[in-house]
Amino acid sequence: MADNILLKVEGLKVAYGGIQAVKGVDFDVRQGELVSLIGANGAGKTTTLKAVTGLQPLAVGDIKFLDRSIKGQGAWNLAKQGLVMVPEGRGTFTRMTITENLMMGAYIRNDAEIEADIDKVFGLFPRLKERRNQLAGTMSGGEQQMLAMGRALMARPKLLLLDEPSMGLSPIMVDKIFEVVNDIHRQGVTVLLVEQNASRALELATRGYVMESGTITMQGDGKTLLNDPKVRAAYLGE
Ligand SMILES: Nc1ncnc2c1ncn2[C@@H]1O[C@H](COP(=O)(O)OP(=O)(O)OP(=O)(O)O)[C@@H](O)[C@H]1O
Ligand SMILES: [Mg+2]
Repeated sequence: MADNILLKVEGLKVAYGGIQAVKGVDFDVRQGELVSLIGANGAGKTTTLKAVTGLQPLAVGDIKFLDRSIKGQGAWNLAKQGLVMVPEGRGTFTRMTITENLMMGAYIRNDAEIEADIDKVFGLFPRLKERRNQLAGTMSGGEQQMLAMGRALMARPKLLLLDEPSMGLSPIMVDKIFEVVNDIHRQGVTVLLVEQNASRALELATRGYVMESGTITMQGDGKTLLNDPKVRAAYLGE
């Protein structure tokens, strides 16, 4: 594993029909980092994550996880290798309970520690424990985000991809979600965080990338980007 690089994206281009949504991006995520990818609506952040996880075919470029190309691999294969995404919009199983959803997150596993890991998720999200027998579809947006993150953790990811976990949530719930993202990272999970909430995402980040109209225009460590006048003007309303 060269330089502890977990994920390496090189020259990635993705088009929808004739529209080039991602125009050649390069970035990497190293073991133990929390990397934030920020950018405005339509910048190409979700498209980039979808290309990484095989949900969107890429026209050009390569994606390596642990030094091996994962181009075109599906969710099951990727999860087996330790790459797990929580998609935009969460995608919980609405007609299953909290506990059943968490069990689904362990679908790639076949070991004796699944129950113990459910308890760990309940430790991170006491709200889920209180509601363990409730149907996921009846939960609030913030609770569903917690569930989606908990379900992803059940796969024991080496790299967790989060697509706008704070989107559409109340300020209190936004605080809670960023707190937990930080906890997950501190517990040793490498995280790639896609966010429109640039200040919160960069505060937590080891490193960050700024994406604009399908290209990466700036990169650096989290604090440097957070204090950069161009970033502050474009993304923090200053
Ligand atoms: N399925 C699709 N078909 C056609 N165009 C698409 C499709 N999905 C995304 N696009 C276009 O690709 C561009 C990038 O979209 P993408 O969803 O990747 O942006 P984003 O950075 O995730 O934005 P947001 O912050 O609003 O989620 C946009 O112009 C969008 O309209
Ligand atoms: Mg998006």
